[in-house]
Amino acid sequence: MAIFPLRTFGDPVLRAMTRRVDTIDAGVEKLVADLTETMYDAPGVGLAANQIGVSRAVAVFDAQDGNGPQVLINPSIVETAGEWTYEEGCLSVPGHFWSITRPEYVRVTSLNLDGETVEYSGEALLGRVLLHEIGHLNGELLIDHLEKPVQKAALRDLRLEALGLVEFE
Ligand code: NI
Repeated sequence: MAIFPLRTFGDPVLRAMTRRVDTIDAGVEKLVADLTETMYDAPGVGLAANQIGVSRAVAVFDAQDGNGPQVLINPSIVETAGEWTYEEGCLSVPGHFWSITRPEYVRVTSLNLDGETVEYSGEALLGRVLLHEIGHLNGELLIDHLEKPVQKAALRDLRLEALGLVEFE
């Protein structure tokens, strides 16, 4: 296992659709171990493979519900319900939190490390983590879910940060 540097906003790997896993081999097992260690080191409640520069449909999460680290491989969302607004952040957009409304409940299918199809479902934080991490695997970032005026201001701030410029009011 190893701790990897996190890719941040502006890195194109975060915007590319990740490639699905065909065979769960030692490489995928190592990727899951590296993601888990990097997630806990950050610390974070979820981490997708493209956040450490690996464009594969693999993510890990720990929704702090006592179930420990969980694995998503080729996950897909099969059901959502309701709406929930939550102050959401992302390890790839460090230091920023935005109030984001997404479905409250989500049900997801995924492979586990044994290649079996498993299901995760939940609401509140668990639902949000699942939606957030699957978004990463599809090349999304949380700012995509902001309303237009807020998104415009957020993108401006992030670009200034990326340039190393300080914004004066
Ligand atoms: Ni994130």
